[in-house]
Amino acid sequence: PNNLSLHGKHILITAGPTQEAIDPVRYISNYSSGKMGYALAEAAVILGAKVMLISGPTNLAVPKGVSVIQVITAEQMLNAVLEELPRHDIVIKSAAVADYRPKQFASQKIKKTDGFMTIELEKNSDILLEIKNHKLPHQVIVGFAAESENVIDNAKSKLLRKDLDMIVANDISHGDSGFMVDNNKVTILTRSGQSIDLPLQSKQIIARRILEQIQNKE
Ligand code: PMT
Repeated sequence: PNNLSLHGKHILITAGPTQEAIDPVRYISNYSSGKMGYALAEAAVILGAKVMLISGPTNLAVPKGVSVIQVITAEQMLNAVLEELPRHDIVIKSAAVADYRPKQFASQKIKKTDGFMTIELEKNSDILLEIKNHKLPHQVIVGFAAESENVIDNAKSKLLRKDLDMIVANDISHGDSGFMVDNNKVTILTRSGQSIDLPLQSKQIIARRILEQIQNKE
């Protein structure tokens, strides 16, 4: 629609992966490039929003007009999100947060030995569950769900468990959408039970469509 505008809205967007250090040279992470989240940030600014991007490590340039907080770990992302949360009307969590981190950080480079190597992992906090405990009544909270099977069912259960207004179900079982590539193919599910399929197209256009759905909710 031509009357689409997010003028005056404060939007918090997370993007990219997190990195969880094992020792000074190694980390655990995932394939998120940040492209989806940065496309959302750029599209939101074009629509007149004030955008704060909380970004894990990426190779992307921050879109013009977007404020950014750079983080590395899930814990840093959590702290930045909770610090920013009260100032925003809309939160979109497109980051791929590492679910686990090494239980211990080895301050010296781990040496090779014979036999197996074991790294113990502990759970990171779920940032969306923390948001659930701190959010204000007017805030619209949008999650993503990267799924390789039972995409819609798994996304629906995340929508409910994380108490979201909307979730973007991202089928990552095909190489042409999801992580790293320029295009995406998603289904938007709303708390009220709507389901909107967005066919394969650029992350820029997907971003625009997601923002349209959010504005319809407002
Ligand atoms: O960055 P790109 O290369 O462009 O790829 C885009 C993308 C595939 C990363 C993106 O479209 C996407 O699907 N992001 C969510 C990835 C993800 O981690 O999904 P999840 O199903 O594991 O998590 C569900 C939701 O909970 C997400 O909104 C996530 O940000 C959030 N979460 C997850 C774990 C955690 N500890 N805290 C969280 O808040």
